[in-house]
Amino acid sequence: MSLEERARRERLLSQAAAAADACRKCAIGYERRHNVYGEGDPCARLMVIGEGPGETEDEQGRPFVGRAGQLLDRMLAAIGLGREEVYICNTVKCRPTVAGPYGPRNRAPDPEEMANCRPFLDQQIEIVAPTVILALGSPAAKSFLGRDFQITKMRGRWYIGPREIPLMVTFHPAYILRQTGGEIEGVKRMVWADLRAVRAKLDEPVSPPSESSELVEARQGSLFGDE
Ligand code: URA
Repeated sequence: MSLEERARRERLLSQAAAAADACRKCAIGYERRHNVYGEGDPCARLMVIGEGPGETEDEQGRPFVGRAGQLLDRMLAAIGLGREEVYICNTVKCRPTVAGPYGPRNRAPDPEEMANCRPFLDQQIEIVAPTVILALGSPAAKSFLGRDFQITKMRGRWYIGPREIPLMVTFHPAYILRQTGGEIEGVKRMVWADLRAVRAKLDEPVSPPSESSELVEARQGSLFGDE
């Protein structure tokens, strides 16, 4: 990737982040401390998409920096990827909360919030143009694959994601952290299989860009002697 292209993507992402920061389409836009747009390599081959920022992310303005984020870092490291090598973001950029006895608690984003934020996510996917998307957890998977998606039955396969990018779904690291007893090993095994599939997809040889039909015709023309 040329330095110019990297700089172009960085510029586009920071413009888009500023637009997301100014957005107040949802009530959570007024409640959050920071808009958590996303971060990582603008030329990443892997884009990781979670659900929405939690408390730590809201405090720091960065995605996946709490406990679930630390586990995500270890999951990426297990397939040879540093956090800085991928692009990490969420289906919604503001922290969805619900009132709790000790202050606001995290909740899953609702469909309207996801729909309001979708243009920002689509724009990120367009700018970064990853080779593979990894959706973490059911809300992120449903935002791409429809509300009938059932993570326990349907994770671990390749789907055609936005812009025809191969999409894998695995369990959210926060879900993995909530597992206890005998379930832990089974869940870890499934996640490991999903991560290995992502690694294998990233390792597939990149097919050369297809020649434009004009070029092919020109070459055929000269092969047959008509200049
Ligand atoms: N969970 C998410 O889905 N996203 C974050 O950024 C943090 C926790």
